[in-house]
Amino acid sequence: MTKKTILITGAGGQIGSVLTKTLRDTYGPNSVIATDIRSTELGDGPFELLDVLNGNRLHELVNRYRVTEIYHLAAILSARGEQNPKIAWDINMDSLFNVLDAAKERKLKVFFPSSIAAFGPNTPKVNTPQETITQPTTVYGISKAAGENWCQYYFLKYGLDVRSVRFPGIIGYQSLPGGGTTDYAVDIYHKAILGEDFSCFLQADTRLPMLYMDDAIQGVLQLMDTTSDKLSVRTSYNLAGVSFTPAEISAEIQKHHPDFKIHYAPDFRQAIADSWPQSIDDQQARHDWNWQPQFDLARMTTDMLSHLAEMLQIEKLKNLVAQI
Ligand code: SER
Repeated sequence: MTKKTILITGAGGQIGSVLTKTLRDTYGPNSVIATDIRSTELGDGPFELLDVLNGNRLHELVNRYRVTEIYHLAAILSARGEQNPKIAWDINMDSLFNVLDAAKERKLKVFFPSSIAAFGPNTPKVNTPQETITQPTTVYGISKAAGENWCQYYFLKYGLDVRSVRFPGIIGYQSLPGGGTTDYAVDIYHKAILGEDFSCFLQADTRLPMLYMDDAIQGVLQLMDTTSDKLSVRTSYNLAGVSFTPAEISAEIQKHHPDFKIHYAPDFRQAIADSWPQSIDDQQARHDWNWQPQFDLARMTTDMLSHLAEMLQIEKLKNLVAQI
């Protein structure tokens, strides 16, 4: 068996940073090459600056480290994408082609995160099926829907082992999201722990599918570990965790912090959220590779708040020590 060497793009990002750490814990620090466009502190193990639009540099790194798998996390998310659609399209698509082409040349395994954004206003909103209408109305969603199909194309045409999931909003204490529509569900916990009110950019009753970071990372590892013949989906697997509204998450937080207050100031992100599903049917992932998330809203909230409280204490202690 060849030794597994993983290259991660966007390793400094919300999911990338946690995935890097978990993969390093699992396969050893030197088996995971973290790359990002900005230099980032990611603990032990190699780090390389990489703009994924630079295909030559990607090839060079793949060759130098004898990479066997690429996890392509770098992307512009939904809300930021709408600020400059052409740039978002170019970044999301050109980077994917660079990854797929490098992988094709050296027969590497690839992980590509798609998103619930691949669905659109014409998709059934409740229990959105695996196979359904995908007519996304954000540039991010268009790039993910196209990306999924390109992954399947490389699988069918070149036999490339590309695997993908449609992530819902990801919630974790370990890192901060950036540029997404589901980001509010991370920010809200930070505000609660700091004792501040939260101004929500979505309406109280906007239900969206979400997933706790620990489940998301576990899912990626499981999918990538499954033998190829078990995988019946080569576009992207639906994944579900928990669906809730801003009103519901804030009520859950209030069970721990009764004084916590939320108010609503919807902005352009409301229209993005309104175009997405409210809940997802993930039977296929459960069937094919035993996907089984562990966290519901109550458990997620308890875990988030206790980790953030701990991090705040450590921060306070550090500040105290710095003053001595
Ligand atoms: N979290 C992403 C976003 O909000 C959805 O995949 O853009």
